[in-house]
Amino acid sequence: MSKVVVMDHPLIQHKLTMLRDINTGSKDFRDLVKEISMLMAYEMTRELPLEDAEIETPLCTMTSKTLAGKKLGIIPILRAGLGMVDGVLQLIPAAKVGHIGLYRDPETLQPVEYYCKLPSDVPERELFVLDPMLATGGSANAAIQFIKDRGGVNIRLVSLIAAPEGVDAVHKAHPDVDIYVAAMDEKLNDHAYIVPGLGDAGDRLFGTK
Ligand code: URA
Repeated sequence: MSKVVVMDHPLIQHKLTMLRDINTGSKDFRDLVKEISMLMAYEMTRELPLEDAEIETPLCTMTSKTLAGKKLGIIPILRAGLGMVDGVLQLIPAAKVGHIGLYRDPETLQPVEYYCKLPSDVPERELFVLDPMLATGGSANAAIQFIKDRGGVNIRLVSLIAAPEGVDAVHKAHPDVDIYVAAMDEKLNDHAYIVPGLGDAGDRLFGTK
């Protein structure tokens, strides 16, 4: 079974409180999402493997550490996931960025993919799916499945806030996917919003209502 990592670093928690506040406007909201995502990138890459590299400093040669293994890829789920991209790229600028867009079919209620562009070497990459609000888990599960259908194997999910229902749904559908969150909230309401949450992440990022 995969794990859920709640990143309780004081800076992340402080910024998350400002993010949740109804009085935080779009510009500050965008800046905070970027800053929190950057701090989360630091934590979520903590277990990446290292290997030795021989280098020369101005004083002598030495054996030092460098990232080993697979290259990285980040895949925001449109549209709110876009808000997390710049923060993550600030720490891992060489990561390739894929995009997945989904909508919910009003009749079947199933997520339907309307856009998907992934790095061509997706099977060879460590992938981080960015979905700020893990609510029912429907979009995250569908996005992860689309990535697996295209050969993705090493997949982690990164969300700012999760509801227990969403975590359970992802665990059930994709037990191989670790989940990284800044907060585990209480529940979903009748409209599938996370409570206490922060409202609609996409609307708050882009100033739409
Ligand atoms: N998506 C959001 O933006 N907010 C929620 O609370 C749930 C899903």
